[in-house]
Amino acid sequence: MRVAVTGGAGYIGSVVVEALMDRGHQVLVIDNLSKGHRDTVPRDALFADIDLIDQAKVACALAEFGTGAVIHMAASSLVGESVASPGKYYANNVGGGIALLEAMRAASVMRIVFSSTAAVYGEPAKQPIEEHDPTVPTNPYGETKLAFERALRWFAGAHGLSSISLRYFNAAGASALNGERHDPETHLIPLVLQAAAGERQSITIFGDDYPTRDGTCVRDYIHVQDLADAHVRALDALDRAGICRAYNLGCGGDGYTVKEIIAAVRAVTDREIPIEVAPRRPGDPAVLIASSARIGDDLGWRPQRPLHDIIDSAWRWMLHHRKAG
Ligand SMILES: NC(=O)c1ccc[n+]([C@@H]2O[C@H](COP(=O)([O-])OP(=O)(O)OC[C@H]3O[C@@H](n4cnc5c(N)ncnc54)[C@H](O)[C@@H]3O)[C@@H](O)[C@H]2O)c1
Repeated sequence: MRVAVTGGAGYIGSVVVEALMDRGHQVLVIDNLSKGHRDTVPRDALFADIDLIDQAKVACALAEFGTGAVIHMAASSLVGESVASPGKYYANNVGGGIALLEAMRAASVMRIVFSSTAAVYGEPAKQPIEEHDPTVPTNPYGETKLAFERALRWFAGAHGLSSISLRYFNAAGASALNGERHDPETHLIPLVLQAAAGERQSITIFGDDYPTRDGTCVRDYIHVQDLADAHVRALDALDRAGICRAYNLGCGGDGYTVKEIIAAVRAVTDREIPIEVAPRRPGDPAVLIASSARIGDDLGWRPQRPLHDIIDSAWRWMLHHRKAG
């Protein structure tokens, strides 16, 4: 199939592109390079440097490519920034997203896999989070992702668009070719690896008095290649016309505490990681883990790569990338 990947030059998008090409799909990457990197786009893929808000250009690119389906990963995705600049998040995640849907309609593309987020749930009353739990986002990032998910439902009703939204928390790890290169970096695993590499003096643990097994917050981490596999499976499932569904992706089990992540990075890198403990941050729930039961039953997806592989792959990629750069 010919698949357009918005945000395909970003962290997760670049690994999704790899997975699609491994499966024999032809790929068009649509990315404005606001956060992405042109060098992640494989030579065999087409690249269009377009902002999603430019609906006419996106429609033209989709039509010219003969696009059969879209995987939509382009977004602004920093929680703190979304609280400080909600307008940017509405403009990009909702405005850009709707422009994409209209462009798809113009190009007669009726299938979309959407990279949503488990931030749509806010601070859930129970764990692990299931798809039928209330969606009460606590920041504009989660709110705008949920708004786009809801738009998908209305587009299904009005135009027969088929969609699957994937809701997950923390992507981590790397493929042999692509890893995490965010600026600023806000994700725990790359930050701890930077401390291991001596690029950061220490790691701050925000709160060690939570009611968890070691007092630090528990979170879900999924290997980026497992996420890519979920996106490809969702794409295959869209063959069934007119579906509009959301699935959670979780790492399974009890998740990992911040201290467990730091210990795992120490074990993989064999380096010291100085830590500092600071007070809890407002709005940080003790535990956030998603249940993957539904996507396991429906699409046979289960995370395959344990924490050690996540950290080992991210570390190798970081060392290789630093050397190459
Ligand atoms: N990284 C995570 O842990 C995580 C967790 C849950 C959900 N997600 C979602 O997955 C997706 C990818 O995340 P990521 O970490 O790879 O982010 P990223 O910032 O690395 O990638 C996003 C890409 O989208 C591009 N982009 C943004 N706005 C655009 C626009 N208007 N037009 C064209 N291109 C645009 C950027 O240049 C970038 O290459 C996002 O939608 C994010 O919300 C990420």
